[in-house]
Amino acid sequence: MRHLMNPLDFSVDELEQLFDLANDIEKHPDRYAHACAGKKLATCFYEPSTRTRLSFEAAMLNLGGSVLGFADASNSSASKGESVSDTIRVISCYADICAMRHPKEGAPLVAASKSRIPVINAGDGGHQHPTQTYTDLLTIRSLRGSLHNLTIGLCGDLKFGRTVHSLVNALSRYSGMRFIFISPDELKVPDYITEMLRDKGIPYEEVSGLEEKLPELDVLYMTRVQKERFFNEEDYVRLKDFYILTRKKMELAPKNMLVLHPLPRVNEISVDVDDDPRAVYFKQAQYGVYVRMALILTLLKLKGEDAC
Ligand code: NCD
Repeated sequence: MRHLMNPLDFSVDELEQLFDLANDIEKHPDRYAHACAGKKLATCFYEPSTRTRLSFEAAMLNLGGSVLGFADASNSSASKGESVSDTIRVISCYADICAMRHPKEGAPLVAASKSRIPVINAGDGGHQHPTQTYTDLLTIRSLRGSLHNLTIGLCGDLKFGRTVHSLVNALSRYSGMRFIFISPDELKVPDYITEMLRDKGIPYEEVSGLEEKLPELDVLYMTRVQKERFFNEEDYVRLKDFYILTRKKMELAPKNMLVLHPLPRVNEISVDVDDDPRAVYFKQAQYGVYVRMALILTLLKLKGEDAC
């Protein structure tokens, strides 16, 4: 059975089909309004979430299915000491597909190994966040027409930001990519990412200044400093406002650059940027629903084929 743990679990060709399906859903939502009638999605969220959980739930409801689950581990049997493996065995009796977020890296993978239904990793610690990445790819592909030949600047907390790790992984499969990692020294992208890029011969730079790189970018991916993954408050306070994208700084950027952000935003993008047509982070949240609808449909179809 197919699960989704890592953005690379789908091949580039499979992703093309997934994104075509998501664009078709965007154009003709009525055609999909009953596609999952009678099916249930379980959302098991052991960590806070607004967009990911609600967009999964909206996706299943838009497909005519139902949702059940928990948004807080303290309301689930995890608080009594139940393991993720036992929980997913039980959820497999109640639902047809499950989206799971967990603070421990690899927890959704453990769940998938015991599951009788497809499991989707909705974010595991500082590790991966494949459905956010598919949202990001769909946004770029829909608004720029292609995922090839991009210079992308990733700015902010590149150390703890799982959306960054997943996105770089996924984009490294497209041709003509160039990465510019913009972060303070303490929040640099992990070595395994830069090693992977070096092995593949993909150009990248690591810098700390945002302004000087803005004129070179096709896409700017802003991120929040991940407060919950810091070991001490002092470091967080020192680093949290390191980058603030403002309307003034946007004057340095190309006319067709896209600004993405997985959200939630704290201070790193000033609200006066929101009206700039290049600021597409709220549109991106909408693409997140279409891509999750396409993913649920695809995984349930594959599960059906497995059963035959
Ligand atoms: C991201 C996450 O949870 O990693 N949020 C999201 O899912 N859209 C980014 C973040 O929390 O900063």
